[in-house]
Parts: sequence; structure tokens; C-alpha cells
Amino acid sequence: MHAVAQWSVGVRRHLGPGGDVFTGAGGTVVTVSGAKGGVGATLTAIQLALAAQASGRSTALLDMDLQTGDVAAYLDVQFRRSVVDLAAINDISPRVLADAVFRHDTGLALLLAPGEGERGEEVSDRSARQIVSALRSRYEVVVIDCGAQLGGAGAAAVEMADTALLVTTPDVVAVRGAKRAVRMWDRLQIRKAEETTVVVNRHTRSTEIQPRSSGRSPARPSPPPWSPPTSRSSRPWWTRAACTNWRTRAP
Ligand SMILES: Nc1ncnc2c1ncn2[C@@H]1O[C@H](COP(=O)(O)OP(=O)(O)O)[C@@H](O)[C@H]1O
Ligand SMILES: [Mg+2]
Repeated sequence: MHAVAQWSVGVRRHLGPGGDVFTGAGGTVVTVSGAKGGVGATLTAIQLALAAQASGRSTALLDMDLQTGDVAAYLDVQFRRSVVDLAAINDISPRVLADAVFRHDTGLALLLAPGEGERGEEVSDRSARQIVSALRSRYEVVVIDCGAQLGGAGAAAVEMADTALLVTTPDVVAVRGAKRAVRMWDRLQIRKAEETTVVVNRHTRSTEIQPRSSGRSPARPSPPPWSPPTSRSSRPWWTRAACTNWRTRAP
């Protein structure tokens, strides 16, 4: 966590507002972070990426849960290259990027976390910015699984995201974790609280925390920006893709 704070202070001091964050034309970046481990961040990221790909958008899924990333395990993929292979490269060419990416049967491009978790430290916040920029200049949608532990690379990704999702479950510990994360991102100027979208996963009528118990009514989920204009089903793709017991709310 020290690294994140240091990163935030360093970036502000040296680069001023906006920094060297890529803001030009390019794909939509969606980060998915967990309020704590096990709340469903990876499943959410995978479902979103698969749905975006199925909607006809070229989509990449980046596993930025650098130490414990398990996208490869979920999708039953074995591939020797990972995001770490791009960490030391200053100018990521389309060819270098293509070599590092695994193409899943669904067409989804996967940039995996390293098999050896300790190598995740090689991905600095600067490399993360370059990797995300390279991905968004090549793909229409870039979904990033940032896991529950925020490091410098994940902080850089959350800052660059067009949409930053924070997944929680409706129990006291996870909701407290979500509040803590939203406030920390705000304090460190990674992301304003009102620009973070909290996704309540595994919500049912019998869960510990109900929307009303916190004194606010749930906001209606709004579709992500890449929602296709037409769909065969009357329900939009992102509700079909999402687990049916999802709720999204402002923090
Ligand atoms: N909405 C859901 N319905 C059923 N199972 C879920 C749901 N969300 C997550 N899970 C399960 O919970 C476990 C943790 O999910 P995961 O996405 O790996 O969490 P995280 O990435 O936040 O640690 C997995 O076994 C996953 O299949
Ligand atoms: Mg995970």
C-alpha cells in the first residue's frame, strides 16, 4: 500500500493534474476491483469481457491481479506469456502486444497474470499505463481485473479507466471494505468517490444487507457505454451477461 501512496504523491508532484495518462481516442477501459478477496471480481471481469466480445466489440481482458491472478485458471488456459513480458518494454508495438496476448476460442484477447506471483512486482505503475494504453489503442473494450489488493499498477489502471467497478457482496465486512476502498481512492486522487461504481454481487432477498437498510434506494443500473444499439433479446446484453443477482449502486 505504501507503493500506491508513493505513486500517487509522485505522479501528482511531477506531472500535475492528468499526468501522462492516455486520454486520446481508443477503446473503453473498465476496471474491476474487489472490496475484498472472494467477492466475485474475477468472475465479473470475465463475464463483462465475454459479453462485450459477444456483442461484436473486439475485447481484451487484462489480469492485473498480479500476484494471485486466476483468469487463466477460470478459462482453462495455459500460456507461457504474461503481462510481465510487456513490463520492461518502453514502446509496445502491435506485434509485441500480439505476441503477449492469448486468443481465447471466443475471440477474447487475454493478457494473463504471471504464473509466478512474485514476478508481478516487475509491473510498475508506469508499465501498467503503457500496457493499458497499448491495449486500448488496439481493442474497443479493455476489461481489467485489478483484484482486491491495490498496488501501483492497479492504481494506474483504475485512474485510467472510463468505468471503475468495485465489486462487493452484501455483507458487513465486504461493504465496509468497499467504503474503505472508495475513500482511499478518493484520498489518493486515484478516483473520485462519485466516479466509482459499486457492484453488489450475490445479492438475494435474504442477504445480510438490503438496499433499504443503508437508507438509500438502489440506483437503476445503467448500461455500460459500449452497449450495442440492437439486440435479439428484449433485455440488453449486459443484464443477460451479468449474473442475475447483480445490483449496481453509487457508493
Ligand atoms: N454471482 C455469483 N454466483 C455464484 N457464484 C459466484 C458469483 N460470484 C462469484 N462466485 C463464486 O465465488 C468465488 C469467488 O469468485 P472470484 O470471482 O474468484 O472472486 P474474487 O476475484 O473477487 O476473489 C468463485 O468460486 C466464484 O465462482
Ligand atoms: Mg480474483
